[in-house]
Amino acid sequence: MTSDREKLRRLSDVVLACEPGNSARRHNGAVEAQRLQMSELETPADDDATRTAPIRGGSEAAIQHHYDASNAFYALWLDETMTYSCAFWRESDDPDDLPAAQRRKLDYHLDAAGIARAQHVLDIGCGWGSLLERALTHKHVQTATGLTLSEAQFQHIAARGDERLRVRKESWINHQPDTRYDSIVSIGALEHFASLGDSPQEKIALYREFFRNCRAWLKPEGAMSLQTIAYGTMRPQDAIEFISKHIFPDSELPQPHELLEAASGLFEVTLLRNDRLQYRQTCNLWYQALRRRRAEAVAIVGEDKVSQYEKYLRLSAFGFHSGRVGLLRLTLIPVV
Ligand SMILES: C[S@@+](CC[C@H](N)C(=O)[O-])C[C@H]1O[C@@H](n2cnc3c(N)ncnc32)[C@H](O)[C@@H]1O
Repeated sequence: MTSDREKLRRLSDVVLACEPGNSARRHNGAVEAQRLQMSELETPADDDATRTAPIRGGSEAAIQHHYDASNAFYALWLDETMTYSCAFWRESDDPDDLPAAQRRKLDYHLDAAGIARAQHVLDIGCGWGSLLERALTHKHVQTATGLTLSEAQFQHIAARGDERLRVRKESWINHQPDTRYDSIVSIGALEHFASLGDSPQEKIALYREFFRNCRAWLKPEGAMSLQTIAYGTMRPQDAIEFISKHIFPDSELPQPHELLEAASGLFEVTLLRNDRLQYRQTCNLWYQALRRRRAEAVAIVGEDKVSQYEKYLRLSAFGFHSGRVGLLRLTLIPVV
């Protein structure tokens, strides 16, 4: 039986091997990743102090458990744009320049969603508003509407006081648009839509409702860009409990085929890419930033939460490195 200390040492080797400029260790890291089962890294059963009551995925309670931890805490280790999702690097980009890669990611999705000709833009799961602000730099854009279930994010965006920037604290399930949109973007929100334990059929039905709504909200000539983590080689039943218990309560990832089946007949998928290694890099940079600001983070949210987040970021980097989970980017145009 491997000791916890040994597991963490091996995990640390794997994650280090994943870091850019570490190609000499990458092969060993990949071999180690094969040997190290995610299940080995599960936290032993502990007291239930942080366990939340059963809640529906995508509910306010589930979202606020994570995103309302404290804006000041997230500001310590996210980049200056406060973007909380996988960044986007081109081959020639500096792998350590996270703000540039986040801006490139925002531009990637806005371009894919046809921002050049858009007047009304919707961001489903808008975080702290970085995509909405970027959208408003485009000359034709009149309104940028964001949906979030986080009170802290809602307040943060509302405080900007720009009447073109409309933030609503509501789920996409309840959204009633004022006007049809030219562009819809959703980055890193779909991971929260389904609940742990939902059957594939239930998940597909929920995702189909999401796509049906999005199609109804889009103009026929509009476009949508979607980014989500998805299961890769790991089966849903092998997912580790630590993440759903302590980090993202009652959320559930899609499997790629579930998304394609759900979108079938509603949207044409014109591009699908898996950029999982870009999320490995993003998680590594977040982890390094959190380590640098650790003392301040502990002062804000306490030692236990900081330790949990360190573990979550390292496990996530490992999952993306090994292919157990993927990072999907889909461009979709409505079937009319
Ligand atoms: C990982 S954050 C990503 C934020 C942002 N897109 C970014 O890239 O920085 C997930 C976001 O999805 C939102 N979200 C989750 N479930 C939602 C739902 N059912 N309806 C609307 N927003 C939701 C959360 O409130 C949060 O803002």
